Amino acid sequence: MTTPAHIAIIMDGNGRWAQARGLPRAAGHRAGVEALRKTVRNVGESGVKWLTLYAFSSENWSRPASEISDLMGLLKLFIRRDLADLHRHGVRVRMIGGRDTLEPDIRQLIDEAETLTRGNDAMNLVIAFNYGSRDEIVRGARHLAQLAAGGHLDPQSITPEMLSGALDTSDIPDPDLIIRTSGEQRLSNFLLWQAAYSEFVFLPCFWPDFDRAELDRALASFAGRERRFGAVDARGAVS
Ligand code: FPP
Repeated sequence: MTTPAHIAIIMDGNGRWAQARGLPRAAGHRAGVEALRKTVRNVGESGVKWLTLYAFSSENWSRPASEISDLMGLLKLFIRRDLADLHRHGVRVRMIGGRDTLEPDIRQLIDEAETLTRGNDAMNLVIAFNYGSRDEIVRGARHLAQLAAGGHLDPQSITPEMLSGALDTSDIPDPDLIIRTSGEQRLSNFLLWQAAYSEFVFLPCFWPDFDRAELDRALASFAGRERRFGAVDARGAVS
């Protein structure tokens, strides 16, 4: 069975999971963190080297202040509680997304996680936090424009690889498989550039219910896909 090297997940449906049980949304996010923990373990055991999780989007700032504070608190708790364990299992942790607008204590925790696990290579866990693809592309374009304005770069020489290199994901391979839970079928500003040739699997389950069986379902679906990257297939049919 073909296993993807990189899986990226849009963890959607915490709120609806909680609502279906008559619980507050915060309970859904807490259950979401449990699912996240198990998923890191399950994905690692499946031999997948890269896992990217969409934990907080640049658009999530428009949620009620109490929910934003819950999500910030959960990230802090996750790093404080799980970092040592992730490190022991050889997981390299890093974050993509805008850092400048995050609270200093969160920035510090993110730095600590990245520094501690820098030398690990059993598995890579990428948390997209305060992440939005358009924001990331704008920041990358701004960087290249500054180089050009300073006379260090000829605009005519800019290639797709150079823009890839100016993104937060510069040394991260593109995702082979993008999974979204909760039945919604859209990217919501997640890895727009990097998803050019990704396969998509949309699952009806809410994120807190995403378990080993759901992961296996997504992996089986991926294994059945024929990826042509814009070329022709084995029989010569154009993709
Ligand atoms: C979608 O549920 C989920 C999120 C907003 C982010 C995912 C967050 C977690 C898994 C918990 C936080 C983890 C960390 C490490 C910060 P939703 O609220 O959009 O669900 P709904 O669409 O049903 O309302």
